Amino acid sequence: MSDFLEADAPILGGKPSPFPLPAGCHTLAVREVEHYTDTLFRFRVSRPMDFRFRSGEFAMIGLPNAERPVFRAYSMASPAWDDELEFFSIKVPDGPLTEHLQKIQPGDTVLMRKKATGTLTNDSLLPGKRLWMFSTGTGIAPFASLIRDPETYDKFETVILVHGCRTVAELKYGENLVAALNEDPLIGELVHGRLIHYTTVTREPFARQGRITDLIETGKLFDDLGVPRMGPEEDRVMICGSMDMLKDTKDLCLSHGLTEGTNSRPAQFVVERAFVD
Ligand code: A2P
Repeated sequence: MSDFLEADAPILGGKPSPFPLPAGCHTLAVREVEHYTDTLFRFRVSRPMDFRFRSGEFAMIGLPNAERPVFRAYSMASPAWDDELEFFSIKVPDGPLTEHLQKIQPGDTVLMRKKATGTLTNDSLLPGKRLWMFSTGTGIAPFASLIRDPETYDKFETVILVHGCRTVAELKYGENLVAALNEDPLIGELVHGRLIHYTTVTREPFARQGRITDLIETGKLFDDLGVPRMGPEEDRVMICGSMDMLKDTKDLCLSHGLTEGTNSRPAQFVVERAFVD
């Protein structure tokens, strides 16, 4: 069987791509692109009718720019109920995918493999009082999905999105998202007073400074929010960031008495790396 399907040519840079469409891929039409900094942007694309995922999961994304394109894992930043898909991406100089992906325009085509997967889902955690979402950089993406899903608020009384970045400008995506969510006619009422956004910056002056891990270790995070230090009875945790951040935050969860869960064995915390780096 041929590796390639017969289909209309995907669009790249406003022109039909000369490359055949790889088998097993959805073609997504770019609807909107927003750049935040030299290193961060988000984009929205059409959602295929038959593409199903759970809020917090990821899929493999590529561009129709080669016979065998490069694919990278991207968390869906939009919730499972949305009729478009949103992604939040880093721009890596000379990155095999993001060097090209950062140039997409409305009308272009993005490729996506058909299967979604991941551990940062509501199913991987036992119910609890507070859900902590610890993220650095583009690690906020799966949480951008989960904070827009009513199911998250069915399961947890309070949702605390903690986002740590190097610079203030890198917080913008999360800030805009939470502001829009509070104004949203459908979900605004549900999140009101129950979604807390805690931001921190490490490499320039800001109201709150320091690594998330230091803020947990010293207890400043809990003191600032007026909640007890986290523990296995009331708190559930999802973590998404760089490999080092995951390891250090996971160790802190373990030292606070939490146990790690999976989709098939839900427990008190789950971990996933922010993939493209
Ligand atoms: P720092 O500026 O002190 O390195 P990066 O872009 O390198 O992934 O970093 C994003 C944010 O995550 C930065 O604020 C960075 O802080 C922070 N960070 C990096 N490594 C860790 C870690 N091991 N634990 C917690 N935060 C981290």
